Amino acid sequence: MIYFVALVAGLAGILFGFDEGVIAGALSSLRAEFQITSLEEGMMTAAVPFGALFGALLAGSLAERFGRRQTLLFASVLFVIGALCAGLAPGVWVLTGCRLVLGLAVGVAAMVAPLYISESAPSKQRGMLVSVYQLAITIGILSAYLVNFAFDDKWRTMFMLGALPGIALFLGMAVLKDTPRWYILKGRTEDARRALQRVRGTSVSQHEIESELGHIKAAMDTGGSGRWADLLAPVVWPAFIVGIGLFFLQQLSGINAVIYYAPTVFQEAGFDSGSTQLMATIGVGVVNVLMTLVGMYLIDRIGRRRLLFLGFVGTALGLGMIAVGAATGIQSLDILAVIGMALYIAAFAASIGPLPWVMMAEIFPSHVRGMAMGVTSLTNWGFNFLVVFSFPVLVSALGLGGVFGIYALVCVAGVIFTYLRIPETSGVSLEDIEKHLLSGRPFHMLGQFAPPPMYTDAPDITQDQAHE
Ligand code: GLC
Repeated sequence: MIYFVALVAGLAGILFGFDEGVIAGALSSLRAEFQITSLEEGMMTAAVPFGALFGALLAGSLAERFGRRQTLLFASVLFVIGALCAGLAPGVWVLTGCRLVLGLAVGVAAMVAPLYISESAPSKQRGMLVSVYQLAITIGILSAYLVNFAFDDKWRTMFMLGALPGIALFLGMAVLKDTPRWYILKGRTEDARRALQRVRGTSVSQHEIESELGHIKAAMDTGGSGRWADLLAPVVWPAFIVGIGLFFLQQLSGINAVIYYAPTVFQEAGFDSGSTQLMATIGVGVVNVLMTLVGMYLIDRIGRRRLLFLGFVGTALGLGMIAVGAATGIQSLDILAVIGMALYIAAFAASIGPLPWVMMAEIFPSHVRGMAMGVTSLTNWGFNFLVVFSFPVLVSALGLGGVFGIYALVCVAGVIFTYLRIPETSGVSLEDIEKHLLSGRPFHMLGQFAPPPMYTDAPDITQDQAHE
């Protein structure tokens, strides 16, 4: 049952990726049909992250009031409406409006689907099941590129196909229950018991169900007292610096300039034929999926800090190569841009892609975790919007080489930021992370005395043991 839950909620990740990626291959036919300016192009493309900003703002209170399940049902209806409306749009402005609706759905789903998974999952599998969500995003992006390729210049069909996973999400959520935690929050203990029994299956005894229910209740009694004012307490700042800093670096590394505009980037880099541009774009999608799997394998084995170092060094090198290849405009250097792109996507997907999402869920103290995650993911959409919106305008002003040069510098800053600010949280329990943060000791010193756990089944090392 829990795999079915992860699969259904994962559909939200697929929709997220699909609606981000589908514009990539639609742009050339949209340009031909509507003769759009680079400002209009930026607005139409960036309407998804812009709508998502508002979706993320709304998601918390919707999920609290109506439940995770109803909120995801609502998002799935928006996904279907947005997809059909985009497919039928008579012009650029209506299309921009429809993509805003899709963005709203993406923003809601991007927050509530991982919440739904993590509240339903047994704690041992929680990290893995949440990273499955990032994997679903990359699969959604790849599917969009394949649809771009298969439907060539039929942009209306491309957008409308996004309705299919939306319908599947609706049907899946319709047969699922809400999470045990939400029922308890609403004082519906009997529903909570039934929901828990259902996701844990028949092999789990009544006694275990009762004891898990007890734990959930106890955790809510002590953990649920956060107020907005608590977010401003100086002890929480180091965690915000890590969370917001990582999303700033993730987005300003330019990832979504590539994800949303890949064929345009390849065209600027010297690929003349449309089908070669799309093939290269599919290559980006495939590397993104495969390297996310590699990242999932490494994340608990070599530790967060090492993985981030490798990621930022790799992306800085890759981006630097694209910048040089594009800026010189010499044909023989095109190959440099292609290798640079492969290196950039590989390093991103294994490290800078999943890590901010994973760390966002573990660095905040439990009494403010929900609100702090909301604020942090909001900044992710803000930076995402900034990059996607500014890209066409920046390329016409600075050229592709200049823009990618800036992204490369951001990744160099990422290496320094990792060194100065990032704690090592792998193998450290959530309670120990919280204890360290609230003690006021420098946050980045956390976990640095402990060797990274080389095997996922190694026992957790507490901070006190590590110091000894
Ligand atoms: C991460 C980013 C998202 C990006 C995706 C690409 O999830 O947050 O913006 O599109 O990776 O795989």
